[in-house]
Parts: sequence; C-alpha cells; structure tokens
Amino acid sequence: MNGRSYHKYFGDEKNYMPTDDREQDRMDIHHQLILRILNEELHKAPVENPRSVLDVGTGTGAWAIDMADKWPRAKVTGIDLSPIQPKWVPPNCIFEVDDVEREWTDNNDAFDFIHFRNVAQGITEWDYVLSEAYRCLEPGGFVELSETGAMAYCDDGTMSATNATKYYCDLIARAMTLVNRPPITSGVLPARLRAAGFVDIHSFELKQPFGVWAKEERLKLAGRCLLEQAETLFHSYGMAAFTRILGMDDEEADQICREGCEAASDPNTHIYSIHYISYGRKPRPGENVENWDDGR
Ligand SMILES: C[S@@+](CC[C@H](N)C(=O)[O-])C[C@H]1O[C@@H](n2cnc3c(N)ncnc32)[C@H](O)[C@@H]1O
Repeated sequence: MNGRSYHKYFGDEKNYMPTDDREQDRMDIHHQLILRILNEELHKAPVENPRSVLDVGTGTGAWAIDMADKWPRAKVTGIDLSPIQPKWVPPNCIFEVDDVEREWTDNNDAFDFIHFRNVAQGITEWDYVLSEAYRCLEPGGFVELSETGAMAYCDDGTMSATNATKYYCDLIARAMTLVNRPPITSGVLPARLRAAGFVDIHSFELKQPFGVWAKEERLKLAGRCLLEQAETLFHSYGMAAFTRILGMDDEEADQICREGCEAASDPNTHIYSIHYISYGRKPRPGENVENWDDGR
C-alpha cells in the first residue's frame, strides 16, 4: 500500500506501520536515538544478571540483541507480528512470530524481565497483556514500558499554533485514539502498571529533540538521529493512520507527512517529543503491597 509493505498475517488493523527495509532501517536508527537519550543504558529497571528476558514487539530485534550481548547467560526472546529479525544473532537470543494480544503460552514465572518499547500503536488490550505479563514474571521480576509520545512540544514559543509538525502530531493522536490506541501522555504508563498489580513503580519523561538545536551533546546527537530517520518516520506513522483510519486519500496524507517532516527539520523551531518510561516490579510472596508509595 502507498508504495510500502505492511503486516497482514494477524489482520490489516494489527499494525498500522510498514515492515519493509526502510522501516527496519528507521527502527535501528531509533534504537540508537533512544540509547542516546538514555545515556547508553538499555533500560531503566534495576535489572542485574537476568535469567530470562522477553522483548515484546521486538521489531528488528536491536534491543534484544544488545541485551543478549550484555547478558550472555540470559535467554532473550523477542516476539513480533512480523519475522523481520536478522538470522545472525547471539546464541542466547531467539525470535518468535506472535501477537502479544493472543493467548500467552509461557509458563507462570517464565521471565524475570519483560520489556515493551514503542508498541503503543499496535496494542489495544493493555489490561489483558499486562495481566499476562504479571503472570509470566517471577516474583521480584520487572516489567518496563517505554514509549515515544506522539505529541509535539516547545518551551520557547518557536513552534506556532499552525506549525505543520504540530498539525501532523495532532492528527496522529486523533487517528490512534479512534482505534483505541491513543498516544501515550504523562501518567498513562504508571497507571497501567498500577492497575495490573505491579509495585515499586518508577517513571521518567525524557525529551527527544527534533533536530540539532539542543545544547547538550547527547541530545544534539539524538536530534540528529531523529532527522536522519525523519522522512521515513513521518510517513511510517502517518500514511496508514491517515488513509485507513481518517479516510484521507494518499495525496493528502502524503502532503501532511511531508510538511510535518519539513517543519521538524527547521533549525529555528525548537520542537521536541517526550519519551515516557515506567517500570514496575511484581511483588514478592507475603510482601505488603497496600501502601506502596510510587510517587503518584
Ligand atoms: C515501532 S516498532 C518498535 C520495535 C522495537 N520495539 C524497537 O523499539 O526498536 C513496533 C513493533 O511492534 C510490533 N507489534 C505491534 N503490535 C504488536 C502485537 N500486537 N504483538 C506483537 N508485536 C507487535 C510491530 O510489528 C513492530 O515491529
């Protein structure tokens, strides 16, 4: 569709983003970008010597591969709707095709760390998915939700109310809300973890600059990574959402994606989005979970 390849096996509406080579390259660049904003860490949860790790919606498996390299004694399993992962991977890393919203066949306590990153546009049934994550985590194990929000922000007034990047982001939010997969905003991830029974919840909101305007070197690099993938990014998130959900024709959708991308590249506008991370722990047997103060 619109010159790109999309997932089909579990249904057209499962993943509104392409899965072709361009999108795979983009995911790999985005992996580098997130490493920069996380100060080269792979996650925020205090995971040490994991035994069994699950990466949900692994994409090209870049995170799972890095995790397997970092912890050679751990078994790292990446699952995704589409088999787009490389074949040459560390021996402790495996990939499976699966839909996380379908029945989980894993045993209770199968994992000690479950990681979800940038899968919000592919999941509706969060209550079910997180209840299964809870069941399949061993007591004391961590789950981490890590999502780039789709809204455009600016602190210094350089983004006008009619800015094309802002317009694009607002339309993405409208489309994804219509299919019950609203973009993540402040407080959403910890609320999901709390509702699923996790405790010891910690949350982070990290700025992801559009372009190289940030002063701090690592954020400048992150912004450069964003521009590097921008052309693909805007079309990957936008085309199917605008045509299939909002009913636009290809030309109108393409124009909004192109103009959104161009405006994001303007060095005089200081736009950023927020990358939200929340992690929580499955309580240990007998632990009093009544009065957990998770900094709400
Ligand atoms: C934007 S990519 C992110 C890839 C990877 N997590 C990363 O951060 O580099 C989203 C991935 O989630 C996968 N996905 C979306 N919905 C899914 C579902 N219901 N079950 C399994 N994978 C899903 C897509 O196929 C896609 O590869």
